[in-house]
Amino acid sequence: MGEDTKHFLHGADRGQPAPQPLDLCRKALEAVDHGVMIAKARGDLPIVYVNPAFEQLTGYTADVILNRSWRVLHGDEPDQDDLIELKNVLSAGESCKVVLRHYRRDGSRFMNHLSLSPVRDEKGDVSHFIAVMEDATERFQWQEQRVAEAEFQRDMLVREVHHRIKNSLQGVSGLLARHAYARPELGDTLKEAGAQVNAIATVHGLQGRVMRSELEARELVEAIARVAGAANDVPIEVHLEPGPDGVSPVRVNSDEGVAVALIINELILNAQKHGTGGEGCGVTVTVRWDGAETVIEVENCGELPAGFDLQQGRGLGTGLELARSMLPPKPSTLAISQRPGRVVAALRLSAAT
Ligand SMILES: Nc1ncnc2c1ncn2[C@@H]1O[C@H](COP(=O)(O)OP(=O)(O)OP(=O)(O)O)[C@@H](O)[C@H]1O
Ligand SMILES: [Mg+2]
Repeated sequence: MGEDTKHFLHGADRGQPAPQPLDLCRKALEAVDHGVMIAKARGDLPIVYVNPAFEQLTGYTADVILNRSWRVLHGDEPDQDDLIELKNVLSAGESCKVVLRHYRRDGSRFMNHLSLSPVRDEKGDVSHFIAVMEDATERFQWQEQRVAEAEFQRDMLVREVHHRIKNSLQGVSGLLARHAYARPELGDTLKEAGAQVNAIATVHGLQGRVMRSELEARELVEAIARVAGAANDVPIEVHLEPGPDGVSPVRVNSDEGVAVALIINELILNAQKHGTGGEGCGVTVTVRWDGAETVIEVENCGELPAGFDLQQGRGLGTGLELARSMLPPKPSTLAISQRPGRVVAALRLSAAT
């Protein structure tokens, strides 16, 4: 406590004149270790008072900042969400607490925890507002760090779960393969079921490796083609073209991953099963970006049966019925068309978000 204050507090005892209430207020504000600022509630909101703690917090001394708008503290961020809320509350004549990103005189940023209240004149109109400020930067950094740590832990856990699901599904797929071997009369059905389980396992395997909201279509297609190629004799050739910027890979939303994997699996199995095969007639899978969508095309030699119409649901078996029902919401599309001597199935997916 400074000499002045001591004198002031004991002044009355010493027979000196009692302090005026305004002096008392000013001295009290100067003694507070929170920054205090009073600004006019009109015009450009010019500052009419700051206490020493404000000067220390912001680096602006009274002689520099008085009569300047308090907006100087907002720096280049006059559109902060809390600021908009604050304007609304103050213009309604209410008090509020907000945290703003504010800038010191030297340009450094700090998180300013402000309690703002309107001050009314004798007519009851809001003439000023008073702000009590506290540097909340450390508290925010600590919170941000805690959030980042929690997210990291969560990601690890989710990846671990994906990894375990993948392992379990591969176990199921292995079991189906053993049953297919033991019961040749059910072999094809069991093999197809095994391939479907494997396709789902592939998605979980990819999600277990890297935590992200999108999968690389390339990895997905390659993994499914590898399993299908090993299970059947028909060779599969995979062509991969670059994504939107001509460099990065084409991507698929990971929450559509299982559906997309099952559809690709069905298209590849169909191409192997219903294609004519033979010299120069393997299955070709192309992953490309057409400027707006991810396109996965599966092509084989052969003819679609007469009357086949995917859109109208004519000539479909369980496989394509399932594929159609699992198609991610529009604008994703699946089309199977006949070209001279070849069948082309095209799965078009909206851009990964
Ligand atoms: N790539 C293709 N090439 C030639 N014909 C095809 C192709 N894909 C589908 N078809 C034709 O469409 C029909 C329906 O296909 P779908 O996948 O629904 O059934 P499936 O393959 O016969 O049996 P499953 O229910 O086991 O898949 C097939 O029987 C076949 O005649
Ligand atoms: Mg099929």
